[in-house]
Amino acid sequence: MDFLDDILEERKAHLSQSMLCTFMADARVDPKQRLSFIPAMIFFTMGFRDILSALRDNSDKSALQLTVHRHCDKDAFHWQWYLDDLEAIEHGRRLLCLPTAQAFTDVWSPLNHATRETVYHAIHLAKTWRTPFYRMVLIRALEATFSCFNEPMYTLVDQLGLAERLHYFGRIHRHAEASHSTTLTGLPDPVHSPTEDEHATASFLVHQVFDAFRRMFDCWYAARLSSQAMRPAA
Ligand SMILES: [Fe+2]
Repeated sequence: MDFLDDILEERKAHLSQSMLCTFMADARVDPKQRLSFIPAMIFFTMGFRDILSALRDNSDKSALQLTVHRHCDKDAFHWQWYLDDLEAIEHGRRLLCLPTAQAFTDVWSPLNHATRETVYHAIHLAKTWRTPFYRMVLIRALEATFSCFNEPMYTLVDQLGLAERLHYFGRIHRHAEASHSTTLTGLPDPVHSPTEDEHATASFLVHQVFDAFRRMFDCWYAARLSSQAMRPAA
């Protein structure tokens, strides 16, 4: 998959400049306020399980599909860590303390449309390009998009002294992702020489994933609380 490196790096450089990533790293903003968008992530974090399911094919025993399954397995339960963190962060409890009907209404509101659309679109891509090669391309693209988010988030959580307390946003997840990539890099890459068509489609898929994530990150940025809203009530 080395042929994807250039396009992934180029798209990552742009996504890292998104309003959300810049906001998470903005030292002029109160660190706690920079976590205020976290409830807006819920549909994506839970929906990521369905994206991973769409990438699975248990009837395919090829080496490349087995690699796909290994990637899916390692991420399949991380949503539980996100739910733990919602309980641990004041902003998360804001969502959990809402009356249930209100919480669902918020998650499915027009404001959160881009987040839902990212999940639907990733599933659509996975179900349309159904070969282990394209599934690996999608996994590479998804991991690349999320690395743009993780870098400023892990730094922020460290600053807040929450790296041990938080699971999804803290050290446990960080180590799980890091040890996972080391393990996978240690494995021999299944041999697959992509055709010219596959090259072109792979670039298309990467752009599709990054475009969707850009819209979702903008949506999360819009969901952050302003400094005004963060001020304790008199
Ligand atoms: Fe993960």
